[in-house]
Amino acid sequence: MNYRPLGRTGWNVSEISFGAWAIGGFWGNVSDQESLAALNRAIDEGVNFIDTADVYGDGRSERLIAQLKKSRKQEIIVATKAGRKLPKQTVEGYSRENLTRWIEDSLKNLAVEALDLLQLHCPSTDLYDRVEVFGILDDLIRVGKIRYYGVSVEKIEEALKAIEYPNVQSVQIIFNCFRQRPAEEFFGRAKQKKVGILARVPLASGMLTGKLRPDSKFAKDDHRNFNRHGEMFDVGETFSGVDYEIGLAAVDELRALIPNGVGMSQFALRWILMFDAVTCAIPGGKTPAQVSDNCHASELPALTPERMAGVKRIYGEKIKPLVHHRW
Ligand SMILES: NC(=O)c1ccc[n+]([C@@H]2O[C@H](COP(=O)([O-])OP(=O)(O)OC[C@H]3O[C@@H](n4cnc5c(N)ncnc54)[C@H](OP(=O)(O)O)[C@@H]3O)[C@@H](O)[C@H]2O)c1
Repeated sequence: MNYRPLGRTGWNVSEISFGAWAIGGFWGNVSDQESLAALNRAIDEGVNFIDTADVYGDGRSERLIAQLKKSRKQEIIVATKAGRKLPKQTVEGYSRENLTRWIEDSLKNLAVEALDLLQLHCPSTDLYDRVEVFGILDDLIRVGKIRYYGVSVEKIEEALKAIEYPNVQSVQIIFNCFRQRPAEEFFGRAKQKKVGILARVPLASGMLTGKLRPDSKFAKDDHRNFNRHGEMFDVGETFSGVDYEIGLAAVDELRALIPNGVGMSQFALRWILMFDAVTCAIPGGKTPAQVSDNCHASELPALTPERMAGVKRIYGEKIKPLVHHRW
């Protein structure tokens, strides 16, 4: 496993880290026992950074991470998120009272005295005009409730606004072979300001593993079943907002670019790591086997310029018209 610096925190985090949404909820039935096995495998593979949120299974994901931390002696840095407990996303909801309460809940779930990294969980765009919210976060650092803070965003414009705030250490954004726009302007600006980038949904909700078929079935409580058209949350979080059939066709074209002996998940993750502005990819892993598969992307050699150009071409022809202007 290779490690990269995260913002100005002084932390060096595993370039393949662990996304802990699926072990909380909204991804079908996942047993706690299997989730703990997946988390433990991640640590065995050298992962030292985990992304979660207070709402993943209403604290279930955070509590599993607390169990993991109790049983392992390595340093494990945990990034969590706050804001999605609001019944409706309003700027007013990000009050001192609410933020303090959400953070207290996460501290309890994670069984720690201070959160390593707190991320605002995809608030609406106008939040980035509210300097007072970032002032509240600065106060929460001062009183020792959080060490650092960052944001998780849907849109590039939000990312660009967020990094104008001097204490924002990280931006989490969807970045993968099907979501290439962040690399255009945002990555350069983030690098200049030494802001870390967490590449989320790196496998386009499993599509970029190459295992999905036109007739693949998903459980009733799996968002790949119930949020394909943005019924419950931003449609971009499900298959990166790419139409299922079009995504599968693009995946079929990507297959031709993959070197012998490399899995598609590893290829998709290595593609992300080609961008040095990225701190880490945070693939979701439900089983130890998935976690190991993903972690091995860190050991692969750099992709050739021809392969990088191939991914760019497939994106440009098949995917860009669907997503580029939206996020
Ligand atoms: N708003 C936000 O801030 C936000 C939103 C979304 C995600 N996130 C974060 O980003 C993380 C990653 O995104 P994601 O979990 O949505 O999507 P993802 O990482 O693109 O896809 C994860 C899913 O792909 C499948 N998978 C993973 N590795 C595999 C492998 N090697 N082989 C075969 N299948 C594999 C698993 O599901 P199956 O086995 O069921 O196919 C897994 O749950 C989340 O866990 C979360 O921490 C944050």
